[in-house]
Amino acid sequence: MKSVGVSKSVELINYELHTDGYSVLYPNDHFFSEYVSIKKRYSKELKVDLSKPYKVSIFREKDFKSPKNQDLLAYNNFCLKLIKILSYDLVQFSAIYTTYDNEESKHIAQKPHFDRIPTLKFMLYLNDLKFENGAFCLSPGSHHWTKEKFQIKRKNFHDKNFFNDTRNIPNPIIDRLTPIEGKLGTIIIFNTDCIHHQGIVKSGEACIVRSHYSRKDFNKNFKIKNYIKKFF
Ligand SMILES: [Fe+2]
Repeated sequence: MKSVGVSKSVELINYELHTDGYSVLYPNDHFFSEYVSIKKRYSKELKVDLSKPYKVSIFREKDFKSPKNQDLLAYNNFCLKLIKILSYDLVQFSAIYTTYDNEESKHIAQKPHFDRIPTLKFMLYLNDLKFENGAFCLSPGSHHWTKEKFQIKRKNFHDKNFFNDTRNIPNPIIDRLTPIEGKLGTIIIFNTDCIHHQGIVKSGEACIVRSHYSRKDFNKNFKIKNYIKKFF
């Protein structure tokens, strides 16, 4: 399975994404080894800018031209290859975010929500993450609720009511929020219609690299009908 970048069955990844809205690739489940290089760079360089709560660094396509970002480019290529194998059409790279959370972190991503722009995200853990130090949390299967409730047409990203809708989540979904614990090198693939939140750090730190993929025509005629067929 080395040619597809994963040792976990592609059929299983697809089934989990469809049923639960996410799939976890533990370090033994994939062949993306450059996370070691990203981790090294994170400790020295990438974290420096992020150490004041709360900040993210954003890397776009143009940033991959820099020789020092070749490890992030490799991560993007790994994700794109997997997206193709998983048969998600019409999806394009949006950006890579590096995040750093500690006990002082306070930001909107810590509240349970679904993203206003439906996105497929690949979260790479750059340190061992447990509930205590900010493992990412999501509610398995909750993307079905989002899809059903907001199926016809997603409102504008800047619509205040829509923003509130994305955070007005029923209690049964909140009650099922689960921390996804994993070692350095764990990759979580998830559909952002799945209710989720950034882990809350009680002690220690959480270093995560996230790569985002959304529909090419999202800002034009975004209709959920196409989205179900071609995206998730
Ligand atoms: Fe989010």
